[in-house]
Amino acid sequence: MSTSLEGNKILAGILAAGIFAMVTSKVADFVVHPKQLPENVYKIEVPEGMASASAKDTGPEPVEPVLALLASADVAAGEKGAKKCAACHTFDKSGANKVGPNLFGVVNRTKASHDGFNYSDAMKAFAEPKEWTYTSLNNFLHKPTDYIKGTKMNFAGVKKASDRADLIAYLRSMADSPSPLPSPEEAKAAQDAYEKAKAGG
Ligand code: HEC
Repeated sequence: MSTSLEGNKILAGILAAGIFAMVTSKVADFVVHPKQLPENVYKIEVPEGMASASAKDTGPEPVEPVLALLASADVAAGEKGAKKCAACHTFDKSGANKVGPNLFGVVNRTKASHDGFNYSDAMKAFAEPKEWTYTSLNNFLHKPTDYIKGTKMNFAGVKKASDRADLIAYLRSMADSPSPLPSPEEAKAAQDAYEKAKAGG
C-alpha cells in the first residue's frame, strides 16, 4: 500500500510542477510582451553589402568569375570534382549520352548541340551567347536553374569559385585541342563587371 501512496505523491508532484510551468510561462508572456511594438526598438545594423544583396533578391545573384583562376586551376582536382557529374555525363571522346549529353569538347561547343541528345526547350532557346564560353559555363555550373530557367539538368550547382575553376579546367582538357585560356584583359573585365554588379550598379 505504501508503495502506491508514494507513487501518487510523485504523480501529484509532477502534475503540480507542470501546472506551475504553464502558469509561469503565461505570466512571462504577459509581462514580456504587453503589446506589439510598431517597429523594432533595437535597430539592427545591416552592413552595406548585405542590404543590397537582399534588395536584389528578385534576380539571380552575380556569380564570381573564374577567368583569372583558370590558368592556375587544378585539372586533377577538377577531374575528382567531375565525379559529381558522372551519374549523368560522360567526358571521354565519343562517350555515350546518359541522363545528360556527353561533354567531350564542351568548352566553346554550341549549346544544346550534341548529336542524339534530347535537350529541354529551355536549353534549346538559350542561345546568348551561343557557345559554352568559360563565362557561361561558370554561370551555369554555379546554379544551373538560375542561369537557364527550366533546364532539365537537375543539379544544385557548385558554390565555390575555385571548385568551378578546377572543373572547367578539367572540361577544357577533355578536348582534341583545348581552347585558349582567357587573356588577362578578359579576366580583368569579368572581375570588374562582377565587382560592379555586387555593388548594385
Ligand atoms: C542529375 C543529372 C545531372 C548531373 C548530376 C549533372 N548534369 Fe549536366 N546536364 C544534365 C542534363 C539532363 C542536361 C541537359 C539539360 C537540358 O536540356 O535542359 C545537362 C547539360 C549540361 C551541359 C550543357 C551541355 C550541352 O551540350 O549544351 C553542361 C555543360 C553540363 N550539363 C555540365 C555538367 C557538369 C560539369 C556537371 C557536374 C558538376 C553536371 N553537368 C552535372 C544532367 C546532369
